[in-house]
Amino acid sequence: MIELAPSILAADFARLGEQVSSAAEGGGSVIHVDVMDGHFVPNLTVGPPLVKSLRKVTDLPLDCHLMIENPDQYIPEFAEAGADWISVHQEVCRHLNRTLDVIRSHGLLAGVVINPATPVETLSEVLNIVDYVLVMSVNPGFGAQKFIPGALHKIRRLAEFRTNRGLNYRIEVDGGIALDTVADVVRAGAELLVAGNAVFGQGDPKTNAQKLLKAANEATLQKV
Ligand code: DX5
Ligand code: ZN
Repeated sequence: MIELAPSILAADFARLGEQVSSAAEGGGSVIHVDVMDGHFVPNLTVGPPLVKSLRKVTDLPLDCHLMIENPDQYIPEFAEAGADWISVHQEVCRHLNRTLDVIRSHGLLAGVVINPATPVETLSEVLNIVDYVLVMSVNPGFGAQKFIPGALHKIRRLAEFRTNRGLNYRIEVDGGIALDTVADVVRAGAELLVAGNAVFGQGDPKTNAQKLLKAANEATLQKV
């Protein structure tokens, strides 16, 4: 099933509750929260207090994408704040297996993320213990960047591995997802679509979300 995960990075933080509700009315069904530490990525964003506030205004799953260097240290706090899903970058986890176990030990869904330069093969030993794999289709750090087409073959490979190995992780994609790219990622096999700028950048989040989901669902029908 295709799901849209609006990324609040592009939202107006002064009206966050309202913007999240609008995106949800348009069909957004997972709220994507980009956490950046100024070390792993050259930008700073939000942490557990924001997750705690969001928890009060929505029942949708909160998908926390940790772009931070020492995720193990913060997982308990995010869990406590109300996160439902936590993903960590393969590139920062020395003991990835352990980190994923820590996420699961808090009763949350565990995801692993790969940057555009990281091959999917680096995940072969953890695919059986993740709930989702997030393929970055931009270099993480900022919203509204251009989609990197190399993400498509990675999504296809992940879909193939899943079938070949009888696994059931979901495939998420993040970065540059908009009306001109959404059909390609869906046809490649992505089912969780993160979109920041395309939902919150201009106009009404509800209408934007509806249009994106419509384009995504139409692409599903065209899948062979
Ligand atoms: C980038 C973040 C993304 C970002 C996507 O580092 O991980 O979630 O918000 O933004 P758009 O959809 O604007 O490319
Ligand atoms: Zn993200």
